[in-house]
Amino acid sequence: MKVPEEVVAALRSAGSVTVLTGAGISAESGIPTFRGPDGVWREVDPEDVATPEAFLRDPLGVWRWHKKMRKLVLSAEPNPAHRALARMEGMYENFTLVTQNVDGLHRRAGSRNVVEVHGNILRDRCQDCGKVVEEPEFWEMDSPPRCSCGGLFRPDVVWFGEPLPKEAWEEAEGASKRCDLFLLVGTSASVYPAALLPQVAKSSGAYLIEVNVGPSEASPLVDSSIFGRAGEVLPSLLRALEGG
Ligand code: OAD
Repeated sequence: MKVPEEVVAALRSAGSVTVLTGAGISAESGIPTFRGPDGVWREVDPEDVATPEAFLRDPLGVWRWHKKMRKLVLSAEPNPAHRALARMEGMYENFTLVTQNVDGLHRRAGSRNVVEVHGNILRDRCQDCGKVVEEPEFWEMDSPPRCSCGGLFRPDVVWFGEPLPKEAWEEAEGASKRCDLFLLVGTSASVYPAALLPQVAKSSGAYLIEVNVGPSEASPLVDSSIFGRAGEVLPSLLRALEGG
């Protein structure tokens, strides 16, 4: 695909880049997005599986739904979009990849400075003492295991109504303030507070580019929208950046 000249210029002149990714970047790895016609939230109500109240009411049901999602994540592989971002990181002095995804595919693709603002579905956290573990044995279990303190383990992801992990949020916000180029990839930009990050970048003077199959909530804010699949567009952006 032909990358607009203005975007090529912004990519080449930037010194500090922050990226915000969402479920759309993993769609081509076989992990469904949340919204849209085939979205996860069409099939199941988040109130039943992705809130702290649901876990209190029905720990078994919530655990089993996450077990299914873990299976999907474990069978998925990073795609060309994840890999292009990993390559881009090496081309900038400052590069922060903020992701709303819990699938860990960015790190598996080789990205290093990854900020997971919604947690990671392969980790668990004790709901009483807060101990965090990454325990493959847990992924096979049909009910939530107990911590040595007696509390129940739950997936270490952010559910609706919960605050984001403080340190991750501060890093994401700081990187959005400091960057001169902010790139959104595969996100509807409809879930707060993550959806504030492009606004933070914009008011700090950054140039904003979005890559999405269609318009998002951030479209009115960005300087340039590139409509297409992330797995095709991001390798093109990388080639443009490399001068090819
Ligand atoms: P959404 O499902 O809201 O949005 C996915 C976006 O990806 C949409 O705007 C699609 O148009 C776009 N898209 C789909 N396929 C694509 C492709 N191949 N290439 C590029 N774009 C594509 O997902 P998020 O924005 O990530 O929160 O949703 C944010 C949060 O809402 C999630 O992190 C999750 C969810 O509820 C929690 O679990 C806390």
